[in-house]
Amino acid sequence: MNFTGSNILSVDQFDIDSIQTIFAIADRMQPYARRQKRTKVLDGAILGNLFFEPSTRTRVSFGTAFNLLGGEVRETTGMESSALAKGESLYDTARVLSSYSDVIAMRHPKSGAVAEFAEGSRVPVINGGDGANEHPTQALLDLYTIKKELAYHGHGVDGMHICMMGDLKFGRTVHSLSRLLAMYKDIRFTLISPRELAMPDSVLDVLANAGHHVTITDQVSGSSDADIVYQTRIQQERFTTPQEADLYRGKFRLNSEIYTKHYKPNTVIMHPLPRDSRAEANELDNDLNQNPNLAIFRQADNGVLIRMALFALTLGVAEQVEKYECDVNWYSSKPSGY
Ligand code: ASP
Ligand code: CP
Repeated sequence: MNFTGSNILSVDQFDIDSIQTIFAIADRMQPYARRQKRTKVLDGAILGNLFFEPSTRTRVSFGTAFNLLGGEVRETTGMESSALAKGESLYDTARVLSSYSDVIAMRHPKSGAVAEFAEGSRVPVINGGDGANEHPTQALLDLYTIKKELAYHGHGVDGMHICMMGDLKFGRTVHSLSRLLAMYKDIRFTLISPRELAMPDSVLDVLANAGHHVTITDQVSGSSDADIVYQTRIQQERFTTPQEADLYRGKFRLNSEIYTKHYKPNTVIMHPLPRDSRAEANELDNDLNQNPNLAIFRQADNGVLIRMALFALTLGVAEQVEKYECDVNWYSSKPSGY
């Protein structure tokens, strides 16, 4: 895949080689993310960071990644504070904002809206989540994390067993991650959800066509040899009413007791975050916080590396990052995640 000038809209754009390229560049971003060195390779470049749906990690890590490469960030958050609220089209918005930026990262509540926006943009657009459809940069950071965590236990991605649990219907992260994992070999997927929130057929078809083994269940038992358990939040914002989401909140929890009973000792625990920590939901309990297999914060940290790599690639500077390196002048102690 030729990344320079390309939009990143869906994981379907990638193949194994392009994923390896992204991950190799992400590895090279570690010293900058850990503040051991700086680079000014994107000095003067501007990121338009457009978030029309709530976000903490994706929005801030896109911005941080761009800053770490030496660029500047202009943010627009919330539909109501942009002219979209006056009826302006995504196409017009894109035409205008793309002349103020060198690259745009965007999140929108409607499936397909980021692709629609990209049609009007004159600079690369990166999808930070479009409705229940896709979250491609999250899938990349999830897969990067899976590789690192499994490597620590002496395994690879091919042949692994992953359990995905919770809201698999509306959870865009599990849609994108499944499609990305489908490119690997012989993966066992155990998909645990209420029947009404099962993984969409469009994703199941991809897994079936690639020959993976898929079990669909509403029971947590049967996961005792899982390598990864990937928990998700009930996507309350995608339901017609909050009461409808209440029916499912708190149904599939993961806490220390459930983990010990149903999973083998080294099963890696992942969650795209945010976890819903309200008592009625609490799908991933704080009592796992000290468990070394809990990878959720390493996962979130990896988002910066992946997004740095994507900016370097789409703006065509991946080979110049080190050339524009300089020293860090302030005291900094960032521990390594691995
Ligand atoms: N933050 C992820 C997303 O935006 C997952 C979630 O919100 O539950 O898709
Ligand atoms: N994982 C993720 O997309 O988090 P935010 O919704 O906070 O961006």
